[in-house]
Amino acid sequence: MPGFELFGDRERKEVADVLSTGVLMRYGFEGARNGHYKALEFEKKLGDITGSDFSHLCASGTAALCTAMAACGIGAGDEVIIPPFTFVATFEAVLQAGAIPVFGEIDDTLCLNPDRLDDVLTPRTRAVVPVHMCGAMARITEIKEFCDKKGLILLEDACQALGGTFQGKHLGSFGLAGCFSFDAVKTVTCGEGGAIITNDRQVYDVCHQYADHGHDHLGGPDRGADGHPILGCNFRISELNAAVGLAQLGKLDRILETQRRNKRIIKEAMTDMPEFSFRYLPDPFGDSATFLSFMLPTEERTRQVGEALAENRVPCAYWYANNWHYYRQWDHLKKMRCAAPMAVQLCDNLPDFQHLVLPESDAIMKRTLSMQIMLSWSDQDLEQRIAAIKKSVTQ
Ligand SMILES: Cc1ncc(COP(=O)(O)O)c(C=O)c1O
Repeated sequence: MPGFELFGDRERKEVADVLSTGVLMRYGFEGARNGHYKALEFEKKLGDITGSDFSHLCASGTAALCTAMAACGIGAGDEVIIPPFTFVATFEAVLQAGAIPVFGEIDDTLCLNPDRLDDVLTPRTRAVVPVHMCGAMARITEIKEFCDKKGLILLEDACQALGGTFQGKHLGSFGLAGCFSFDAVKTVTCGEGGAIITNDRQVYDVCHQYADHGHDHLGGPDRGADGHPILGCNFRISELNAAVGLAQLGKLDRILETQRRNKRIIKEAMTDMPEFSFRYLPDPFGDSATFLSFMLPTEERTRQVGEALAENRVPCAYWYANNWHYYRQWDHLKKMRCAAPMAVQLCDNLPDFQHLVLPESDAIMKRTLSMQIMLSWSDQDLEQRIAAIKKSVTQ
């Protein structure tokens, strides 16, 4: 998963380009920047890779989600269906929009279950935000069919799934817009960064305007001459961050190839160990292979094996008991502990998060462990890892 494992001369060269000009901002300073437009170059490349007409870089994946919410027209009082297994940023972006997160069940893809969306649909539902968790896909065509049938916006949180595809089409490119994160631990990193992709010109225009104080970017070299068609915010990325990401994006194919190889070797060895079953992948070829997620028969056995794996130096995430990625521990959301009152609290349809129970998701997550796949593993590391996994299930 982490592109930082491959930092090298290309990253240094791209950053040096920026530093040599002194221009750290993506807009303006035409005379001084010596032809360097790292954010713009990154966006073109990301559009080409994902087959999207437009792409816009932001300061983070969270900023990209907030920007995409605005650009897709999701706002105050709207209900947005999201999964309970994600990073907190997904519901943060919904709340920042003044909209209301409504949690649907997940299935054995570890992503939103399209068969359960109808259960949480109300007249106020405006959008569905599936999250392609741990590098692989939700049942995205079925989720899209549901959205199309019900007239809902499909906005994909592909923050963890750069390079992942379903039947050859990039995750993030199925809906009206899709978002990626390039934070410090992602497949491709800018240090901090994120992006929105879309094929819709209007959505794109709102994205670049909203993320830059409403600038329409039509004023030419004089930023002061830009118009401000909408209210916005500052979610811009700096040229330094974009430069790191640009070098990293050039390594995406190599990263995916290495991850897939390392994951395949470990998964094949685990397939011979009868207690394990695996996350369902609707298209195994499109898995970006950042994680290997597997299940044990019971919660008790999952906790036992998880502890044994950690003792044997193969730490795995047990998301069910994790503070940041699963709803059970999201006390700040459940109690709506806000720094100051939020617009969303004025809504009369705010659900009672405190009593939220998702039995189908719990039944899956209780039995799931995820191993992060690293790029730097040698063949010997892989062998040791497999031996440690065997030992952990027998001790
Ligand atoms: C599913 C998901 N959505 C959104 C984000 C937010 O991205 P960032 O950390 O770049 O703000 C993350 C980051 O881990 C994520 O995993």
